[in-house]
Amino acid sequence: MFNFNFHNPTRIVFGKDQLRELDTLVPADARVLITFGGGSARRTGLLDRVKAELDRSGRTVLEFGGIEPNPQFATLMKAVEIVRAEKVDFLLAVGGGSVMDGTKFISLASANDEFKGREEAVLSYGFAGVPAQAAVPLGTVVTLPATGSEMNMGAVISKGEDKLVVMSPLVFPTFSILDPELTCTLPENQVANGIVDTFVHVVEQYVTFPVEGRLQDRFAEGILQTLIEVGRRTKDDPQDYDARANLVWSATMALNGLIGSGVPQDWAVHMIGHELTALHGVDHGRSLAAVLPGMWRVRRGQKREKLLQYAERVWGIREGSDDERIDAAIARTEDFFHSLGVSTRLSDLGITEEHFDAVIASLEKHGMTALSEHGDLNLEVSLQVLEASR
Ligand code: NZQ
Ligand code: ZN
Repeated sequence: MFNFNFHNPTRIVFGKDQLRELDTLVPADARVLITFGGGSARRTGLLDRVKAELDRSGRTVLEFGGIEPNPQFATLMKAVEIVRAEKVDFLLAVGGGSVMDGTKFISLASANDEFKGREEAVLSYGFAGVPAQAAVPLGTVVTLPATGSEMNMGAVISKGEDKLVVMSPLVFPTFSILDPELTCTLPENQVANGIVDTFVHVVEQYVTFPVEGRLQDRFAEGILQTLIEVGRRTKDDPQDYDARANLVWSATMALNGLIGSGVPQDWAVHMIGHELTALHGVDHGRSLAAVLPGMWRVRRGQKREKLLQYAERVWGIREGSDDERIDAAIARTEDFFHSLGVSTRLSDLGITEEHFDAVIASLEKHGMTALSEHGDLNLEVSLQVLEASR
């Protein structure tokens, strides 16, 4: 097992009616900015419920709505101005990954004077982390189980055709309220996106190469098996509380640092997927489903042992040669995504061979030239992956 240093400071408050904990979780004297998306939080009545909870201690509460899916730098900058002008000292994100990520950016960009007037610099550090001194504390009320943003220190921010990773330990939420019932208003396609995103988060930290991370492997396999058990059920019946609760908790656990501690991590599917979203507006989850099987077809040599382990332990595949078992595991994964109504082909997303050069150029522009758990996935291999995903 690799060495690791794991710290996760986010308090998780999970279950029905936990919104009532907001009054205790947010400091009583805070000046709060509630951030939300394009309208679902208002439509479902959640925004009013959140405000009523915060009102109990007579806090000053401001609102900032309109954070779009794949949150845009220009939109978020409007909130940064509000935070500065109104001396906001607590941010409350009410929404999915885009709202939570956008709020993390707002937190970093508004709290550090060295970024004043050059806030786009916050987007330039990638996985190395933003060298920030401070952040406005933030909490989240999660409405979409998918990204794990509610318990991690990452954000993905869009600026034009660039989709850029922002990392800082300062933006771990202080708390996240996970009430599965708040996700019942999601349309089916967003539930499916969340299942796929969670699935791919797990395999990016699991289908790599073995390092005797036995517990991490079993955590990963446990999440994958849970998703397979409840995925279809929760998509078809949003009122099935237990199924939805399992999805919500799986999504959080898939990307809070735990299962990836001490083991190799890949993330190549995500990096290629991000470019597809930036260039073609494809939902994040859909971009991953279209790239993962092609990635495994191309990288089956590098990932051989873990693909065989995945085949046996997650899908129960024990018959046939090594190659046959790997083929079967890839096919079962595709069947699972299809059962959720999610395609595993780029052509179904309107992305064809003529678009591949632009994707490769974007990967190059963003320095994504040595991806994967081995660091050997160069632009040539990325092109092979796109070709294998047609
Ligand atoms: O904007 P509103 O009106 O709220 O509608 C949203 C949005 O249109 C809607 N929605 C959310 N909760 C709802 C709801 N509709 C009805 N009822 C509810 N309860 O769902 C739509 C999609 O929301 P979004 O937040 O964009 O989805 P998701 O949570 O999948 O987040 C995707 C973003 O997260 C990034 C992605 O790149 C993308 O920008 N990621 C963030 C990560 C992280 N921070 O660790 C890791 C991920 O791999 C990912 O890259
Ligand atoms: Zn993801």
